[in-house]
Amino acid sequence: MFFSGIEQAPADPILGLTEAFRKDPRPDKVNLGVGVFMDEKGTTPVLECVKRAERLLWETEKTKGYTPISGPAEYGDVVARLVFGPDFHGLAMNSVAAAQSPGGTGALRIGAEFLKAFRQGGTVWMPDPTWDNHKNVFGAAGCPVRTYSYYNPSTRGVDVEAMCAALEKIPAGDVVLLHVCCHNPTGADIDAAGWARVAEIAARAGWLPFFDFAYQGFGDGLEEDRAGLLAVLQKVPEALVASSFSKNMGLYGERVGALMVVAESAKAANAALSQIKRIIRVIYSNPPKHGAALARMVLEDADLRALWLQELESMRQRIAGNRQLLVHGLARRSSEMDFSFIVRQKGMFSFSGLSDAQVDFLREQKAIYMVKGGRINVAGLLPESLGYVCDSIAESLKI
Ligand SMILES: Cc1ncc(COP(=O)(O)O)c(C=O)c1O
Repeated sequence: MFFSGIEQAPADPILGLTEAFRKDPRPDKVNLGVGVFMDEKGTTPVLECVKRAERLLWETEKTKGYTPISGPAEYGDVVARLVFGPDFHGLAMNSVAAAQSPGGTGALRIGAEFLKAFRQGGTVWMPDPTWDNHKNVFGAAGCPVRTYSYYNPSTRGVDVEAMCAALEKIPAGDVVLLHVCCHNPTGADIDAAGWARVAEIAARAGWLPFFDFAYQGFGDGLEEDRAGLLAVLQKVPEALVASSFSKNMGLYGERVGALMVVAESAKAANAALSQIKRIIRVIYSNPPKHGAALARMVLEDADLRALWLQELESMRQRIAGNRQLLVHGLARRSSEMDFSFIVRQKGMFSFSGLSDAQVDFLREQKAIYMVKGGRINVAGLLPESLGYVCDSIAESLKI
């Protein structure tokens, strides 16, 4: 039989962990493995600005008819202004094209298909380490994938020297994937001086930057977080950008994102978009409507936008506050390891520096779940679990 001959696929490492967490009967279990924001009650809430937009949409939406293949032009415009900032020169030149996508993953995958078709044989270089799914997404599209040096475990930061040395050697026909902010999984971001060097190398070496911007607003703020992107685009005329509203608007399951092309002319941007539409047409025909309509409403309506900015700020503050609490909590309990680097990291994730044996100990003995490699979701720490997590991590340091 056809189906009975098919083997079970391995579980996704992160989603599999969530599954194991759900099944764990221990009452004091803590999930630091997931990739979603959690509030102090341990839930991933619908933002109030989104709730209000939903009410408005319910009252005003007249049809569930299909959206255009690349989404409504107004959605593309408002997203491009958010991502690049209203003063970006490409917006005035109409040399930025945007296609709505099913989340950031959808944007990456459409971008990968585009590269496979038009940058044939070009290798896609990604940081080591990177979000697990990056390799799969680009690999599945048939793009050759390699990694460049990024993280230095001894400084717990970006190894700018090693990264720049690697980027220098990447040939002009290749593509370099760059996390704009809140690097997943390390939380270690490139600083302003590092971005200036990346920009200069990109301009000289001629490879195409592909920016993954999945966490705009989760680092230091919407504007601050795009600084690296703009630094490179000051020096380089072309790029691809994948953006997402999963995290910053909490629209995870609605699947809302965009793939953007920065070209050197309006004509080139249009031609690229026309090809992107052909790619979309044969995969899912046109994008899901609801979540993008909400995101557009929040961005276009002054009151909803102001409310969103407040809610985004409070998510950011919760993450930053948790970083402080964790560092202080660990410092009070153990002097074996200096965890102060955790406050320097950005976004939800932190490479905790714990070994795989310590990660296993915490899961098996303490019901504290984190991803192998020691990545923790700082937003997963709750007021009632903080002390227990700090005690347990301190204990794990002795094994
Ligand atoms: C670095 C990075 N890129 C892209 C994504 C894609 O997010 P989504 O498809 O949910 O918008 C994620 C999600 O975790 C991510 O961490």
